[in-house]
Amino acid sequence: MGLDALRRVGAVTGSFEIQTTDLDWGCERYLRTGHAMPADGLGVLGQHDAIYFGAVGHPEVPDHVSLWELLIPIRQGLDLYVNLRPVRVLEGIASPLRGGTPATVDLLCIRENTEGEYVGLGGRFHQGGPDEAATQTALYTRRGVERVVRYAFDRARERKHELASATKSNALQYTAVLWDEVVRDVARDYPDVRLTSYLIDALAARFVYAPETLDVVVAGNLYGDILTDIGAALQGSLGLAASANLDPERRHPSLFEPVHGSAPTIAGKNVVNPMAAVWSAVLMLQHLGERDGAALLMRALESVARDGPHTPDIGGSGTTRSVAAAILMAIGA
Ligand code: IPM
Ligand code: MG
Repeated sequence: MGLDALRRVGAVTGSFEIQTTDLDWGCERYLRTGHAMPADGLGVLGQHDAIYFGAVGHPEVPDHVSLWELLIPIRQGLDLYVNLRPVRVLEGIASPLRGGTPATVDLLCIRENTEGEYVGLGGRFHQGGPDEAATQTALYTRRGVERVVRYAFDRARERKHELASATKSNALQYTAVLWDEVVRDVARDYPDVRLTSYLIDALAARFVYAPETLDVVVAGNLYGDILTDIGAALQGSLGLAASANLDPERRHPSLFEPVHGSAPTIAGKNVVNPMAAVWSAVLMLQHLGERDGAALLMRALESVARDGPHTPDIGGSGTTRSVAAAILMAIGA
């Protein structure tokens, strides 16, 4: 559906035409061949301008296997170090938050996407026995923190000149203190941006009780993962949460995906909300410099959010197909 929307936007604006390569990478391929993507997968992706990612996951494949077969190696291998997630309540969609409106919930979350808790360093010892042990080491590098924080300051400059940084430096005296120090160092280059460092637990609470006090938020990998699911809840549904996995330096194609996974309990039933996938396509057009197309597609999405139809996750009785058709119609002919 997202591809249909992109094609339609290209035709209506007359400013681009997309060419696609369909890659059947995922769990079914994994079950068939033992690998979710081919050995030269990153090279194949590298021949494209952008990656429009569906969902990965399968009831017969453990999640940590499917994610380490595909999504995480792509994020890390292509060095997509920014995970950008807009958190906005759209007009016409009810936030579960009393007072959650387009005016009060409008944040831009920026999650570090290549290191931290997700580096996969660790192991298990005495597996299955009574003395079993496991370690999972988080890795924070000055370079890794600095580049994502700089990106966040730049975005803050385009918005309200306010940046919230998530940390836990009261308890995590190594990684989180490094994060805070780097944030403070980078802040010197942005005297026009008001920086607030929040402890992650307090920031999670603030997302709920005072989202209007937040604008751009930057967080490490796992913190950002958790915060942005709170963000999706504020928006009214995980079916609305969009994301862009970016290489801001454009050495590699960036990847755009809805935050929801493969949702196996509702997949294929024509009830899945296509809005997150469409919103992710908006982020793709923005990244590719197609500003008019991005604005057109976002307006189409906003008009269907306002006027319906809506899928059941946001309280409607529409279907994936009826919502998709309405979005295509709103793009124009
Ligand atoms: C997300 C997802 C992934 C993550 C999972 C599926 C590995 O929750 O994109 O937020 O934690 O990054
Ligand atoms: Mg997540």
